Amino acid sequence: MSPSPDPMPPTAAATPRLPGTDAPLEAGELVLLTDRKRRRYLVELTPGEEWHSHAGLIPHEELIGVVEGTAVMTSKRMEVVVLRPTRDDLILKMKRGAQVVYRKDQAMILAEADVRPGCHVVEAGAGSGALTMALLDAVGPEGSVTSFERREDHARIAVRNVERAFGGSPAHWQLHIGDLADELAALRANRVILDLLEPWRMVEATAEALPPGGIVLAYMPSVPQVMRFTDALWDDGRFTNVRTSETLVRGWDVDGLAVRPAHRMVAHTAFLTTARRVPSRTDGGPPPPRRKADTGGRIDWDAHDRSRVIAADEPASDETAPGRSVVDRT
Ligand SMILES: C[S@@+](CC[C@H](N)C(=O)[O-])C[C@H]1O[C@@H](n2cnc3c(N)ncnc32)[C@H](O)[C@@H]1O
Repeated sequence: MSPSPDPMPPTAAATPRLPGTDAPLEAGELVLLTDRKRRRYLVELTPGEEWHSHAGLIPHEELIGVVEGTAVMTSKRMEVVVLRPTRDDLILKMKRGAQVVYRKDQAMILAEADVRPGCHVVEAGAGSGALTMALLDAVGPEGSVTSFERREDHARIAVRNVERAFGGSPAHWQLHIGDLADELAALRANRVILDLLEPWRMVEATAEALPPGGIVLAYMPSVPQVMRFTDALWDDGRFTNVRTSETLVRGWDVDGLAVRPAHRMVAHTAFLTTARRVPSRTDGGPPPPRRKADTGGRIDWDAHDRSRVIAADEPASDETAPGRSVVDRT
């Protein structure tokens, strides 16, 4: 990997806390308290402090030194179970600057992009650091994650969240404040993971950063983004196996004989589009899958951009005015 200049400096040594060991809980650790109504609270164990709830208090001393899963009574006799938080628990409770990638998509991103120990990954934007955490865990200390975030306020939140999850700044992580487009072509990575508004802007630089066989993945909430990114990948001529999927996860209620799908589910988050880098060719590159003659042909994205610029110059009367982006989740 060729690092780009001025990464944000680490602040502390990494000391991950893995749930599911025999190690008793220690002062300074983050723990998850769950009450009998399944309400969950994240607490940092601090000697001398108390955790307060509507159903009484628990001195932190009663939690320090016990093993995970121990049930502790509040002063008003409510049972609370203490566990080390999983990555998902931390993400659900952490501060967010930008919309985060949740576990159903994290899991599929790791699978679709084949992110594994030893991988060198470049990702942008870091946002709140949720996906960063999953990538760091997947690549392990023998790999690396280089994150870019162009908003300083989001970068600070990402640093805070990652350091909280890892007990310090992981040695295999670098976060750069800036636009990925300015740095990507000079980097070398096995995987490029894009969670930003206009991933098609990164296609050319991604081809420079990835060796043949490398994988790019973009997480995109809307269909026009998928269309444009896909077109850009085929047009570049250095990508093949361009594929798109979305992931639906439906929870179930299991209560005696009442066993059925939950009434509520997260219906849509985003689409994942992946592609493999191939060597440059003189014939324009691998052909896209054959299209039927009646699919309407290719979209002229440049003309689309020009009309957006013209429309943006005209006075806009309401939120649906042309030229206004409706897909920016940031
Ligand atoms: C939806 S958020 C990313 C969330 C993140 N993946 C997570 O799980 O927490 C998108 C982020 O990309 C950043 N961003 C957008 N374009 C960028 C670019 N060209 N370079 C770097 N960061 C960018 C935005 O500032 C925003 O924080």
